[in-house]
Amino acid sequence: MLSQNMQSALNKQINEELFSAYVYLAMAAESENIGLPGFAHWFKMQYQEELAHADRFFTYILDRNGKVELDALAKPSVDEETPLSLFEKALSHEQHITQCIFKLKDLARQETDHATDVFLEWFVREQIEEEASTQTVIDQLRLVEGNPNGLYLIDRELSGRQPDAE
Ligand SMILES: [Fe+2]
Ligand SMILES: [Fe+2]
Repeated sequence: MLSQNMQSALNKQINEELFSAYVYLAMAAESENIGLPGFAHWFKMQYQEELAHADRFFTYILDRNGKVELDALAKPSVDEETPLSLFEKALSHEQHITQCIFKLKDLARQETDHATDVFLEWFVREQIEEEASTQTVIDQLRLVEGNPNGLYLIDRELSGRQPDAE
């Protein structure tokens, strides 16, 4: 049985994950507008991953006999971006999500809610990957410093992103 406190924290995380999906969808659109279809593909994949994250929390709450409560989504602030600013925003967003997961983990431990503690392990590992993959692209973008040939190559590389094996 989930505590009321834990249930509401997990519901809040559904909103965080759906908002993440929304942010990445906006980034995909912005990338298309800039003329970077590979970036758009990468963000679209990220969007789908975030929907899957929201679904994991959704299913978990219901599995524990809890009540799912869906809240309104905020408007993503993605506008007039450069290739680098898109990925810098993505990284700072992921760092925020990592903090959300850590806070949930702290709560699970405080409440000695072992089931939720174990459920969250997957997300702790996932966030390491999310931050690392975003940082890799930032490093590449800094290396080419807006050089069109470099950007073209990075776009080509991002266009090859496959869905993660779970
Ligand atoms: Fe996520
Ligand atoms: Fe993420």
